[in-house]
Amino acid sequence: MDHRHPAGVPISASFLLLSTFSLLLSSPLAAQDLPHLDRAAGSTQLIVGGNPFVIFGGELGNSSAGTAAQADEILPRLARAHINTVLMPVAWEQIEPVEGKFDFSILDHWIEQARTQHLHVVLLWFGSWKNAFSSYAPDWVKKDIHRFPRAISPDGRPLGILSALSRENQDADARAFRTLMRHLHEFDAQQQSVLTVQVENEVGILGGARDHSVDADRLFSGPVPEKLLQHLREGSDWLPAEIRHSWNPKGSTWRKVFADHAPELFTAWYYASYIAEVAQAGKAEYPLPMFVNAQLPAPLERPGEYPSGGPHPLNFEIYRAAAPPLDFLSPDIYWPNFEYWLQRYSDRGNAVFVPEARLDMGPFNAFYAYGAARAIGFCPFAVDSLPDVENEIDAGKNLLTQSYSVLHQLEDILPQAQREGRTRGLVLHANSLRPTQTVSLGGYLFTATLARSWPARTLLQDDGAMILLQSGPDEFLIGGTALSITVSADPDAKEGVGGIASVEEGSRVHGEWTATRRLNGDQLDQGRRILLPDHRAVLLRVKLYTIPGTPTAVD
Ligand code: DGJ
Repeated sequence: MDHRHPAGVPISASFLLLSTFSLLLSSPLAAQDLPHLDRAAGSTQLIVGGNPFVIFGGELGNSSAGTAAQADEILPRLARAHINTVLMPVAWEQIEPVEGKFDFSILDHWIEQARTQHLHVVLLWFGSWKNAFSSYAPDWVKKDIHRFPRAISPDGRPLGILSALSRENQDADARAFRTLMRHLHEFDAQQQSVLTVQVENEVGILGGARDHSVDADRLFSGPVPEKLLQHLREGSDWLPAEIRHSWNPKGSTWRKVFADHAPELFTAWYYASYIAEVAQAGKAEYPLPMFVNAQLPAPLERPGEYPSGGPHPLNFEIYRAAAPPLDFLSPDIYWPNFEYWLQRYSDRGNAVFVPEARLDMGPFNAFYAYGAARAIGFCPFAVDSLPDVENEIDAGKNLLTQSYSVLHQLEDILPQAQREGRTRGLVLHANSLRPTQTVSLGGYLFTATLARSWPARTLLQDDGAMILLQSGPDEFLIGGTALSITVSADPDAKEGVGGIASVEEGSRVHGEWTATRRLNGDQLDQGRRILLPDHRAVLLRVKLYTIPGTPTAVD
């Protein structure tokens, strides 16, 4: 008699499979089974469930995740807006209102609701610091200035900023964060709704470039730690030009080694060392990828006018030397030169992830981030303030949702295309010195200018942007808005004259392309230009051709 169960597997073998499976479930997950970074690809990628994953994110406003009920109202709206990952704060004061007593009920509800909406989650640990200050610390920390010391201003006043030099501060924060990550391991390791965790938020000292406490003064006039000097000796060309020109590897004190940059780099070292301990305590429980975010300096701003010592480009190597548990460094980009900042944060294989960005520029910058900078994620801030697409009468007002809808349609092919260098992106601004730009892909040059409506040549929209993804030989998907694009053969890649074979507007669902319109005539400028409409984001499938000949200018 054949002792098989219905699927035809012998009973002994099926018992073996079952016990191996139960063993796997009860044993800790191997690091490669958790979300992690793959640095071997052309660009650093986030791997989730074994596959590269791109975060089409949105960060919540600061007061939007403090109750469970807010999850029920906000998350369905975000899912309808084609966001696939929500970035939400976890406040220290919320999870540890009484020292040693933890309450994760609100967080658990958010994660459960996110699962219902098929959303992933990025947690923002608002622990010791949020925008430099310590307002999210529990009141048992805030009230006890002796046990939990503050940074001191140049004129000797305690600031509302927990001291980064205090072991007691660090240990209390690390204990809370460790407990959070232990809980997350129990609650989410199987489902992996949470992908990564930001440790603290926009750290740094305000009001001066460094802490002026007695301890800080003593350490500042002492030697630069050997661990940092060693790191910098290994790669002095890693230092940004601003520092490289003035640093003296033979000096000993902070001032002697780093000259005028010394106060900020000193601050960065102690913040990074503190955050490293907190992150490591969390990783010991549940090793998700972890990162920090920077408030970026405005041009000519002095350290202390912006949070001095945060993870902005001047301080990259300080963070790398002091904080190996941090997997990447991220910019919060509210300044207009978005592209510049993304290029700086692509430094040395850093995973490009923008946890905060201007909401109104989101529909444009998203295309640049994923297409040009090969970002693992881009997240406009206060995304919960967007009007609900269900109630939105004028869909044109919700361009971000449209842009995310276009990107969402590329979700399955974007990570692989990023990996293989088959994407490009650009964003143009009406007020820029040169509102035209050319990118090269797949043997063609794509020259974009801001769209002008046909037939009146008036500028209708201030900004335009696109992502370009090569989907086959001579075939491209173009998503974007408000551009007109000419195409020619790239003389550096091939000989001949390039032209437009066909352009369809349409949609991709589960990898299937459905054309809604075949564009021609006026909508294709008589075959000469690909037009992305004003106030609307669309997805186009474009086929090109090359014929022998010498290129001549069109128009
Ligand atoms: C940057 C911070 O990181 C956010 O939490 C929020 O305060 C925004 N600034 C507000 O613009």
